[in-house]
Amino acid sequence: MSGLDVIIRGGTVATASDTFQCDVGIRGGRVAVLGHELGPAGNVIDATGKLVLPGGIDSHVHFSQPSGPDIVMADDFESGTRSAAFGGNTTVLPFCLQEKGSSLREAVNRYHKLADGNCYVDVSFHLIISDPTEQVLGQELPALIEDGYTSFKVFMTYEDLALSDREILEVMSVARETGALVMVHAENYDAIRFLTDRLERASKTAPYYHAVSRPVVVEREATHRAISLAELVDVPVMIVHVSNRESMEEIRRAQQKGLKVYGETCPQYLVLTADDLQGLNMEGAKYVCSPPPRDAASQAACWEGIQTGVFSVFSSDHCPFRYDDPQGKLAPKGRTSFRWVPNGIPGVATRLPILFSEGVAKGRIDINRFVALTSTNHAKTYGLYPRKGTIAVGADADIAIWDPDKRVVITHDLLRDGSDYTPYEGREVTGWPIITMVRGQVVVSHGELLGTRGHGSYLSRNKSSM
Ligand code: URP
Ligand code: ZN
Ligand code: ZN
Repeated sequence: MSGLDVIIRGGTVATASDTFQCDVGIRGGRVAVLGHELGPAGNVIDATGKLVLPGGIDSHVHFSQPSGPDIVMADDFESGTRSAAFGGNTTVLPFCLQEKGSSLREAVNRYHKLADGNCYVDVSFHLIISDPTEQVLGQELPALIEDGYTSFKVFMTYEDLALSDREILEVMSVARETGALVMVHAENYDAIRFLTDRLERASKTAPYYHAVSRPVVVEREATHRAISLAELVDVPVMIVHVSNRESMEEIRRAQQKGLKVYGETCPQYLVLTADDLQGLNMEGAKYVCSPPPRDAASQAACWEGIQTGVFSVFSSDHCPFRYDDPQGKLAPKGRTSFRWVPNGIPGVATRLPILFSEGVAKGRIDINRFVALTSTNHAKTYGLYPRKGTIAVGADADIAIWDPDKRVVITHDLLRDGSDYTPYEGREVTGWPIITMVRGQVVVSHGELLGTRGHGSYLSRNKSSM
């Protein structure tokens, strides 16, 4: 076959279902042919001894999200999508936050202005519903879903974000009518406030007490309630960033009942624990996220959820704040109590190497489950499949070439994000994405940024096909 722009030659291609030796021919940004002896091409990439995988899709990231007075998120669309590419990702789905009292449509327009022309990889937005007024529920949300914003997140905790059960039911009813997918942050807000007040009264204000203020029961109860509300309305639901056995088992029980309940977990729940929040002085703030990392038994439970399919997606929940910064983790108020430390940790570039190393290289999962968890299931769940999430003729040529044997000690400078630290500093991994290609264009090659800012496009999405 002639007239190809790029051939990836000699690699082992793995999708969510198959592993095979073949060359990949690319034309016009799409996979044009899979086979051998594909003839000449403008650019031939030698992938001998390497894995050729669908580019990672990270369906849970936060960029440029308003985060409260005097707090600034460390990544905008430029730095966030750049870092995503360094970590082998070709599409990311950040959250567009409706601030209380504001219109959802205005939030979307504002977020597009931040993204347009600034992205290295493709992007698509989830919505965050913080103010489900009649206007939002009756008009704005259905219209936005029609326009391809087919998933949205609701919070059961956080000041100015938490919805009441009644509000969640109303929002879920819109999803029921429109076929959109609801994502839920499941933690019991009142219980957290009760525990936080009590800890503060006892002068237990260091970052470590963030974990104490949000124990497993707080997450498990809310997970159960979210699933029950979804059952009541008869609507699919995705429980995001699940951290522990009890919550995982709530999801498993619902799945066994035949409910469309999906689960997501993240690297921090596989390799970090609450002990990481114990750092000297304020160092523990680097690990403050919600739900918090827990313990070795919870890590094992999350692995079990991954291995048995309870979790269909593995995302980063990249929510970056700088550490040594008064607008980040070391905000003056945060020094007075964990309550004010911005929640979230960076991880868009480390998600895939951590799962590859801990999962594939250590034999916990095979390469096909790795692809499903990190790419294909995200595309199916959020209406991007089969254009994204696989290597097949006609699909976008979104490809990550991996050296499965490359050993890398993670250091922040490799990740190219806007933060000033990584929670995974010094951790050695086996397996690293060496080339990231978005629609046929090489964006990152061997640690060098080759892509152009603005090559990343906005993706309007279909309804979920899970
Ligand atoms: O601590 C976290 N996870 N921050 C990000 C916001 C969220 O809840 O996903
Ligand atoms: Zn959340
Ligand atoms: Zn998040």
